[in-house]
Amino acid sequence: GYKMRSKLKNDTFLRALLRQPTEYTPVWMMRQAGRYLPEYNQTRGRAGDFLSLCKNPDLATEVTMQPLARFPLDAAILFSDILTIPDAMGLGLYFSTGEGPKFERPLRDEWEIRDLAIPDPNVHLRYVMDAVSQIRKTLNNEVPLIGFAGSPFTLACYMVEGGSSSDFSLVKTMLYQRPDLLHHILDINARAVTSYLNAQIEAGAQAVMIFDSWGGALSHAAYHEFSLPYLEQIVSGLIREHDGATIPNIVFTKGGGLWLESIAAIGCNAVGLDWPIDIGQARARVGDKVALQGNLDPAVLFSNPDAIRTEVGKVLHSYGKGSGHVFNLGHGISQFTKPENAAAMVEAVHELSKPYHE
Ligand code: CP3
Repeated sequence: GYKMRSKLKNDTFLRALLRQPTEYTPVWMMRQAGRYLPEYNQTRGRAGDFLSLCKNPDLATEVTMQPLARFPLDAAILFSDILTIPDAMGLGLYFSTGEGPKFERPLRDEWEIRDLAIPDPNVHLRYVMDAVSQIRKTLNNEVPLIGFAGSPFTLACYMVEGGSSSDFSLVKTMLYQRPDLLHHILDINARAVTSYLNAQIEAGAQAVMIFDSWGGALSHAAYHEFSLPYLEQIVSGLIREHDGATIPNIVFTKGGGLWLESIAAIGCNAVGLDWPIDIGQARARVGDKVALQGNLDPAVLFSNPDAIRTEVGKVLHSYGKGSGHVFNLGHGISQFTKPENAAAMVEAVHELSKPYHE
C-alpha cells in the first residue's frame, strides 16, 4: 500500500495513482504552466526566453505555482522540458520563436553517437534539482509535486532529427538501416533518464511521469523493440520509496492506445491516455493492473463552460465507479485556451466525480 510520511494536505493524486480510495477524482493538466496564462508570458518575458526560464530556479518556481494560484489543482508539475537531458549531453538546445526546439549539434555521425555520455544530474542538471527543492518548499505540502522526463525514443527523435519533425525520416532511417546505433542511443538515454528521475525524487519529486510523445509514430513491431523495452528499463530502475513515502510513476505514450496491455505490463503504476481511446474500454483492458490518467480532448477547452461540463461528465461516467483515475487532458493544454475554461474543467471534475467515489 501507499505509505506517506510527509504531512501532505492533499494526497488525492498520489492515492489515485496507487488505486487507493479517494473522495473525488484528482485533476491536473499537462502543460498547466504555459502560454495560455498571461502571467506565464509575463514571467517568460522577464527571463528573456523559454530556456532561460527553465534554467532559473526562482522563475521556474514562480511559473510552476501560477496555475495553482488560479485553479484548485491536485498536483503541481515541475516547470522544465524533456530536452534538458540532450542539452546536458552537449547537443546545444535552443528555442527559436515559433519553430519549437532545435539542437545546434544533432547526432549525425557515428562517432558522435559513440561519444555520448550520461550526464550527472546533480552536476549538469543542477538547475533542475534546485528548482525541484525550491518548488517543494514553496508548495509547503499543499499538493504533491510531479517530476518528469522524456522517453528514450522521444528524446532520440529530437536528438537525431535536430528538432521537431513531421515524418521522423532521419530517426526512422536509422531505425531500419542501423538499428544497432539507435539501440545504443536508446540505452544511453534510458540510463540518463533513470538517474535524472531518481535525482528529482531525491530532490523532492513525489511522483514521476515519462512522456513518450512520439512512440505512437512507430509500427507495432518497432514500438515493442525501440520504445517499450526502454520504458521498462527506466521503470525497473526507479526509486520506489523516498523519505517514507511511495513514489508512483506514470507512463504516457501518445498514440499508445493499441498497446495498452503491453504498457500496463512493464511495472508502472499508471498509464496516461490520449483522447482517441474510450477510458472505460481502457479500464476494462487493464483491469486492476494500473491506474489511468486522462483523457479529455484538449480541444474541448475551446468551447464553453456548459459544453466542458458535459464532456467532463462523459469521461468520468465512462471510467465509472471507484479509484484509479487521475483526470487530465489527453495532451498538453493549447496556448489558445481561455483560462476561464480550464477553471470550468477543474471545477466540473471535482463536483461531478464525488458520486463515483461513494
Ligand atoms: O506540464 C507542465 O506544465 C510542465 C512543463 C512541460 C513543458 N514541456 C514546458 C514547455 C513539460 C512536461 C514539457 C514536456 C515536453 N517538452 C514534451 C512532452 C510532452 C508533449 O507535449 O508531448 C515535449 C515533446 C517537449 C519538447 C518541446 N518543448 C516542444 C515540442 C516545445 C514547443 C511546443 C510549442 O507548442 O511551441 C517545447 C516548449 C515548451 N515546453 C513550452 C512549455 C510551456 C512552450 C515554450 C514557450 O514558452 O515558448
